[in-house]
Amino acid sequence: MSTNKKRFVKYSQVEMTQLVLPNDTNQLGNLLGGRLMEWIDIAAAIAAQRHSNRVCVTAALDNLVFHHPIHLGEVVTLRASVNRVFSTSMEVGVIVIAENQLTSDRRLTNTAYLTFVGVDDHGQPVKVPSIHPQSKDEKRRFKEALDRRNKRLAK
Ligand SMILES: CC(C)(COP(=O)(O)OP(=O)(O)OC[C@H]1O[C@@H](n2cnc3c(N)ncnc32)[C@H](O)[C@@H]1OP(=O)(O)O)[C@@H](O)C(=O)NCCC(=O)NCCS
Repeated sequence: MSTNKKRFVKYSQVEMTQLVLPNDTNQLGNLLGGRLMEWIDIAAAIAAQRHSNRVCVTAALDNLVFHHPIHLGEVVTLRASVNRVFSTSMEVGVIVIAENQLTSDRRLTNTAYLTFVGVDDHGQPVKVPSIHPQSKDEKRRFKEALDRRNKRLAK
């Protein structure tokens, strides 16, 4: 992407789909929390890197909530979106939807916020281009991301 163009949220959004296989589950046949965290981290990192055109490292993961278990054989869709850029860091929000393909039942199972930092070849933080929210939801997430950052850094 040209560096002069405005970077909108939709340009860097990621949708990633996974099928829950036996090796992804615990003894109850539910998706392992750690496996889901890995998928969340990857989806969010791709969104951060697509936005910034930089290698991005995970600085923080917060508010990861497990609302419902996800079962063996279900399809998991992760949607990741850059909510706001600060200076060298950005907040990425991820939602996770589980789908039972035998019943077409879909449910929101998880949400999470991650902070990524764009880095140079030496792993040093570098400034990331700003992001331009357009829709009502994008503008709401942009606004709320500042409060979350303040709370995150205060911790
Ligand atoms: C993330 C990292 C690059 C920050 O480096 P640093 O020397 O602390 O840099 P700074 O203090 O200048 O902070 C850089 C940015 O990170 C943000 N940041 C640092 N720690 C943070 C945290 N715990 N939570 C949220 N943001 C954080 C700062 O607020 C700053 O953001 P801003 O530039 O947008 O204001 C560094 O700590 C690091 O490399 N950590 C390990 C990352 C890693 O290995 N991740 C797992 C594999 S990808």
